[in-house]
Amino acid sequence: MTPWSGSPLLAAETYRLRDTVGRALGMGYPPPLRADLDTRGQLARAVCRLPAGFQPDQTATAERYLNVTLGPCELVWDWAAGDLTIIPVAPREVPTECWWDRAPPAAWHLLRVGENAEGPVYWDLLIAAHLLICGGSGSGKSTAFELLLEQALAAGWQAVCYDPKLVELIGYSGRDGVLAVETQLARIADSLEWVTREQARRYMLMVEHRVNHWAKLPTEVRPAPLLVAFDEIAAVLRPVKAAGDVAAVGDNRLRGRVGQAVTEVAERGRAAGVHELFAAQGVRADWFDGSIQRNMLARLHCGTTDDVTSRLFLGNSKAGVPFDPETGLGITPGVVGRAAWYVRGEVSEVQVSRVPEAA
Ligand SMILES: Nc1ncnc2c1ncn2[C@@H]1O[C@H](COP(=O)(O)OP(=O)(O)O)[C@@H](O)[C@H]1O
Ligand SMILES: [Mg+2]
Repeated sequence: MTPWSGSPLLAAETYRLRDTVGRALGMGYPPPLRADLDTRGQLARAVCRLPAGFQPDQTATAERYLNVTLGPCELVWDWAAGDLTIIPVAPREVPTECWWDRAPPAAWHLLRVGENAEGPVYWDLLIAAHLLICGGSGSGKSTAFELLLEQALAAGWQAVCYDPKLVELIGYSGRDGVLAVETQLARIADSLEWVTREQARRYMLMVEHRVNHWAKLPTEVRPAPLLVAFDEIAAVLRPVKAAGDVAAVGDNRLRGRVGQAVTEVAERGRAAGVHELFAAQGVRADWFDGSIQRNMLARLHCGTTDDVTSRLFLGNSKAGVPFDPETGLGITPGVVGRAAWYVRGEVSEVQVSRVPEAA
């Protein structure tokens, strides 16, 4: 071990490191450190004496602080010697491009979303039954939506596809496993009500066979999981202004039916194997509230967002804004396919996998 000294740059670095470690350990001053540098002049390891009276129950707070301020690092607490060794872990970059290899999912409930700094990221439907994708135009929503829809079909799921924007999902018409592709509001409402009846039928089967989840049904009666794939759903959940406008009143009745059906599936679909995949341009309190918010426990925000949307959608005002080295949170701006991936309150930056052209 060599003492850390030398060039002014290194001295400045040393001070920052000592200051950070001092704060992490709750000391009132930057403690002396012994440090090794690697061949590129980066910190390879640092050793610091623990302050007198430092207790094992203080390590969790110190680790959190050091991991945020120094980046990921391994911390070795040597209580006998009374020192702490800090070994920075070279952060793995989030890849700038990744592809789905068209291999069917390893299990029906694991659909691949993309990759983060730790490796592949999956939407596990047993952890979060329904997924909502948001992001501005051109941010990669449809790419993510189709990635998940394709994998569900490859896993032998059934799907119903709804697209009020008319053309995005047209290619799915007639595909194996695709039961419907609807674009008209009235037909979407009818079709969704069929989904709720199918969901009720599955519950009756579960009662009959005394099981609490569709996957436990005997194979001869077990239905395939059903994906309700709805692009641009916000356009339909939001009521239109209707004062004195007969057509708008009719439209709002249909929107009401759509809202009721998607809520019923959001609330009760999980055990019946009916799962929702929604995409929308943005979240607004007038539709992203109540049951939708409580039940969409997997969320993907494509591209960066503002801190208000980030707080509403990702549960953290910093998780979806442009990356900030101070907090270690946020999304690298300007990389197509970058997104914030949220599951039950945990958020990470991912690169969404692309679907290769069909052979
Ligand atoms: N995950 C991704 N990786 C690389 N490029 C992407 C990715 N997602 C989208 N793109 C590029 O961005 C373009 C717009 O994406 P798209 O999914 O159509 O956005 P949106 O539906 O949000 O308008 C696509 O044509 C594609 O070239
Ligand atoms: Mg799109």
